Amino acid sequence: GLVNTKEMFAKAIKGGYAIPAFNFNNMEQLQAIIKAAAEEKSPVILQVSKGARNYANPLLLRYMAQGAVEYAKSLGWEHPQIVLHLDHGDSFELCKDCIEHGFSSVMIDGSHLPYEENVALTKKVCDYAHQYDVTVEGELGVLAGVEDEVSSDHHTYTDPEEVIDFATRTGVDSLAISIGTSHGAYKFKPEQCTRDANGRLVPPPLAFNVLDAVMEKLPGFPIVLHGSSSVPQEYVEEINEYGGKLPDAIGIPEEELRKAAKSAVCKINIDSDSRLAMTAAVRKVLATKLAEFDPRKYLGPARDEMEKLYKHKIVAVLGSNGKA
Ligand code: G3H
Ligand code: 13P
Ligand code: NA
Ligand code: ZN
Repeated sequence: GLVNTKEMFAKAIKGGYAIPAFNFNNMEQLQAIIKAAAEEKSPVILQVSKGARNYANPLLLRYMAQGAVEYAKSLGWEHPQIVLHLDHGDSFELCKDCIEHGFSSVMIDGSHLPYEENVALTKKVCDYAHQYDVTVEGELGVLAGVEDEVSSDHHTYTDPEEVIDFATRTGVDSLAISIGTSHGAYKFKPEQCTRDANGRLVPPPLAFNVLDAVMEKLPGFPIVLHGSSSVPQEYVEEINEYGGKLPDAIGIPEEELRKAAKSAVCKINIDSDSRLAMTAAVRKVLATKLAEFDPRKYLGPARDEMEKLYKHKIVAVLGSNGKA
């Protein structure tokens, strides 16, 4: 069945790699994630936001995730290491409901709350979840952009002085931190970037000093990075070529994520890149094959493109291939 993140994270930290946490809300994404993980023998976290859960339906989702484990086995993956994780849980009730619906891991995102309220809420979720062997991710620090339906126009980096107190008082299993990543396909404004010789935007570096300081306070503790899509320019260009409009979309360079994956960062969240892969492939078919109206003819290529993307992330960015 599904597993929690405990052993997975301990091994990843020792081994100097990170586990992919891929968001999904539909069958094609799920198939592509499982196929990529099974073929690369990578542990994987299937991640579901509150909105995705409502979109897919909580009951269906439960059986989709269970089906994913069986599907993985049918692909020749003997012992699938698959987690079903709630992304950005915003209340105790939602976390509890997910646990009742078969999730093996949840995030409670109290990062927008005053510190003491974040501690109290995270502890409440941990005390409940741990009774069922469900692992819990908490968050300290605020990412710029929209997170958990709350938006902020600037980063508030995680304060390394808070992490020991937070981890000990809450009992949380992993900690998401803010070091300059953000959600979506517009992670930096053009004016925050420089340009390379070809005129392409080059984003400012992540605050690795904050990550280092957190790791110094909590040696060996599982750290999570949200907002870690790289926004591949091939997809952005393809989308724009076939009628889309994503001006100056930009993400986190893969080298920075590779560097993070070698540290105590053991979970890296990627959603936007999969959305871009899917959209680029669908747009291309619809723009070039005008007579096509069978969804399988555009969702199929989209699924193939996502599988390619997931494998690339696993092998070239996270280094989690062959670890399950
Ligand atoms: O952190 C946000 C994830 O990318 C999920 O986004 O709420 O649009 O499903 P969503
Ligand atoms: P991206 O928008 O960078 O893919 O981040 C996803 C994420 O952090 C989900 O929680
Ligand atoms: Na790591
Ligand atoms: Zn996130």
